[in-house]
Amino acid sequence: QAFFRPITNAAPPSPTKRQTKISVIGVGNVGMAIAQTILTQDLTDELVLIDNKADKLRGEMLDLQHAAAFLPRTKIYASVDYAVTAGSDLCIITAGARQNAGESRLNLLQRNLALFKSIVPPLARYSPQTVLLIVSNPVDVLTYLAWKLSGFPSNRVIGSGTNLDSSRFRFLIADHLDVNAQDVQAYIVGEHGDSSVALWSSISIGGVPVLSFLEKQQIAYEKETLENIHKAVIDSAYEVISLKGYTSWAIGYSVASLARSILRDQRKIHPVSVLAKGFYGISNEVFLSLPAQLGRGGVLGVTNVHLNEEELQRLRDSAKTILEVQTQLDL
Ligand code: NAI
Ligand code: 2OP
Repeated sequence: QAFFRPITNAAPPSPTKRQTKISVIGVGNVGMAIAQTILTQDLTDELVLIDNKADKLRGEMLDLQHAAAFLPRTKIYASVDYAVTAGSDLCIITAGARQNAGESRLNLLQRNLALFKSIVPPLARYSPQTVLLIVSNPVDVLTYLAWKLSGFPSNRVIGSGTNLDSSRFRFLIADHLDVNAQDVQAYIVGEHGDSSVALWSSISIGGVPVLSFLEKQQIAYEKETLENIHKAVIDSAYEVISLKGYTSWAIGYSVASLARSILRDQRKIHPVSVLAKGFYGISNEVFLSLPAQLGRGGVLGVTNVHLNEEELQRLRDSAKTILEVQTQLDL
């Protein structure tokens, strides 16, 4: 006798309903924070985990599967073999070395270069239509590398970039002014790292442009205060790493928000690392963060946000910093 009696006149499942599939490469602190946020937010039908440490990988898969009674239904797979990623809609790369306390992100390049050469080609082969989302550091240079190694059009290769820095920025501004961070529109652009650029001139809260409001009200603001808030954003990761060894929860939420915008075709604007050639006078093939609209096809466009002269110069300097590191790549 069947355990479950089907309803005989029920319509068959729609053959056109597409299952969504996300693969996460690297099941360390960052990969697992992303995986668990994706599960709790019900963003995919299938979640695949890949790592080169087979035991840790199986352990992480089982641990997530054991939460099935408390989560939306998602099939979770794990393997050291990239065949399991076939047909992914989104591949998120988090594998690789992370910073020691006080070490810069750019310093990680040589350690993560070889790794990317073994990760990106099989991902691209098994999922030729996927969007690649790079998280490993230095994220801007590794996104460029993933673009070159995959042969994908640039709109399908995205770095998580300053989506995280911008959240840190919004948190600090919101905390300073005692408002909700979700009401603060503010972007950090450029390198995800030390040469990032704060776009003070375009910050608004609840539709009120902050700097021009202060100027109109003749409320004095110290440039130094603004610089200190940006400096606190840059120092954030160093501080967390020196305290707990790594960062994980904020990047987990940051990447889940990008996954939602891409897979659900939200057309939402996120500051993420995109091919910046042709924007703001940048003439080189360099990836850095600009406010970009994300949807099912990946990057749909870059917003034409106004940058003042100082911001423009800082953005170009940031591009130069990334480019200098990029020239060390042996492709
Ligand atoms: P972790 O050391 O906890 O995890 C790295 C994982 O990569 C390990 O599970 C390791 O086994 C795996 N791995 C190493 N080689 C591999 C290979 N060839 N194939 C598959 N897997 C491999 O490091 P954590 O804390 O998860 O950080 C990962 C990366 O994410 C680092 O590069 C870190 O700097 C970066 N990161 C980037 C952020 C961003 O905003 N873009 C934020 C936080 C971290
Ligand atoms: C972060 O900003 C370390 O890139 C990493 O949290």
